[in-house]
Order: sequence, then structure tokens, then C-alpha cells
Amino acid sequence: MKFINRKTIITLLVVIFIIMQFFRIDKTNSPVDQSLDFITITQPTPEIATMLKDACYDCHSHESKYPWYSDVAPISWWVKGHINEGTKHLNFSEWGNYDTNKANHKLEEGAEKVEKKEMPITPYLITHSEARITEEQRAALALFFKEKMK
Ligand code: HEC
Repeated sequence: MKFINRKTIITLLVVIFIIMQFFRIDKTNSPVDQSLDFITITQPTPEIATMLKDACYDCHSHESKYPWYSDVAPISWWVKGHINEGTKHLNFSEWGNYDTNKANHKLEEGAEKVEKKEMPITPYLITHSEARITEEQRAALALFFKEKMK
């Protein structure tokens, strides 16, 4: 097995990495109907609206912004996975289609996740300084979610 040396392994890894790059993610956002949008409907203060856009909308709306590294597999798959999972659980672009029960539940979960610092998820904060919200901002956002419950 003389041919399995370090050079062969490195070459193999490079080849695998290159092949991975052919499996691109779909970065097209679904069209946004602003009349169904959470911010349009709930009319938060500009501060809260900015916070939502900066810290939540990349994964919880049809307005995701894809950073440059989302062009590099396997990071791209990981980013896309978060967006798919995020919008499946909570989609601010579809807010107007949620019935009262569902909306209340999401607002409750939202307040809880923001208070417990479970959202935005930690890896996102490494590359998104604008999403690093302070304790005070967290409290304000959680309170806003609670106030919007019917
Ligand atoms: C980097 C992507 C990302 C960002 C940014 C993000 N989330 Fe999430 N969020 C997810 C993913 C993935 C899930 C589903 C898995 C889970 O619950 O942990 C989720 C789940 C949730 C849920 C649970 C919904 C349910 O009913 O199960 C709520 C509520 C939530 N997020 C609120 C927020 C809020 C509020 C923000 C902004 C302060 C935010 N998220 C920012 C990725 C994200």
C-alpha cells in the first residue's frame, strides 16, 4: 500500500472539495408579498423593525441575504439548511397567512427564544455583528412579541 501516502490523501481531499463545488445551492428568494409581511402587519418601532431585519429575517423570511461564503460548499449547504429549517418553523414573509393560534404560538416561542438567547443561533453571530443584540434590545423584542399576542 505504498501509494497511499500523504500526497495521495491531500490530492484526494482537494478533488473531493472541487467536486463538492458543483453541488450549488439555490439562492433565489421566493417573491415577497409585503401585505403579508410581519413588519407591515404589526407596525413595530423602527428600532424593533431593524432588529428583526438584521437578526431574524435572513433565516425567517423570503428576504435572505446570502454572504460570499455561502458560495463555498460545504458551508453553502449548512447556510441553506438553516434557511430551509428556519422558514419552515417561522416565516415572517407569510405572517398574514398564519391563523391566530399559530401566530400566538410563534410569538410566544419568539419571546422565549430571544429571552433565552437561543435566537439568533450562535454561529450566525460570528459573521453578523449587526445581529448581536444587547440584553435591553432582547427584552424590548421579547416584550413586543408578547404584546402582539391576541
Ligand atoms: C441563522 C439562522 C437563524 C436566525 C438568524 C434566526 N433563526 Fe430562528 N430558527 C432557525 C432555525 C434553523 C430554527 C429551527 C430549529 C430550532 O428550533 O432551533 C429556528 C427556530 C425558531 C423559532 C421556533 C419556531 C417554532 O415554532 O418551532 C422561533 C420562534 C425563532 N426561530 C425565532 C427567531 C427570532 C425571533 C430570530 C431573531 C432574533 C431568529 N429566530 C433568528 C434559524 C435562525
